[in-house]
Amino acid sequence: MGSNPLKCRTDPEPSPSRHQNPLEMTAIVRDQVDDRRRRVLLVGTSAAGAVAAAGVAAPFIASWFPSARALAAGAPVQVPVDKIEEGQQIIVEWRGKPVWVLKRTKEMIEILKKNANADFLSDPQSKDSKQPDYVDVKDGLRSIKPEILVAVGVCTHLGCSPTLKKEIGAASDMGADWPGGYYCPCHNSRFDLAARVFKGSPAPINLVIPPHRYDTDALLVVGEDKKA
Ligand code: FES
Repeated sequence: MGSNPLKCRTDPEPSPSRHQNPLEMTAIVRDQVDDRRRRVLLVGTSAAGAVAAAGVAAPFIASWFPSARALAAGAPVQVPVDKIEEGQQIIVEWRGKPVWVLKRTKEMIEILKKNANADFLSDPQSKDSKQPDYVDVKDGLRSIKPEILVAVGVCTHLGCSPTLKKEIGAASDMGADWPGGYYCPCHNSRFDLAARVFKGSPAPINLVIPPHRYDTDALLVVGEDKKA
């Protein structure tokens, strides 16, 4: 049985809040699906509650995907990316791992392009990191669509799941130079919004970009390669 990637492998009893910020985990694919309907409602946890409390319609994302057994075996997961708002991240489960789907804003994309070869990154061009060859690494985005990052949310150090820190600069709690990214609290690894690791982090390489493709402009498929 594989380890739970949402838990740090070095910490047998982690606090859930240490590894998963429910305010950032806006959606997660649940295993408890109705196989007959094969439909899952991806709902926010605390985020949805907060939105509802604010009197705003809660985000609703629906996806069709295989049974829990097929998912565990590695079946692809369909994600309707048109339902994701700018700046919002959802998390789906693929092969037992969390996969982030972040819709980046124009500002995020500009910063990443500006930092395409930044020397504060360990592997800015992702030469030693894992991603499909149809993902553009030269522009600093590591994605098929510039606005959508698809990355496996498992730290390349010891397997914790980093936390999204999407606020930029002084608006963040990561320092004035923070370009937006992810923070792994287990041993202080930092990654940008293309899942590239910062120098000085214990994580040796960038986070993994899984195989994925778009069947339509609005439908992302995680777990299968882009068609030739
Ligand atoms: S698991 Fe050690 S820094 Fe992420």
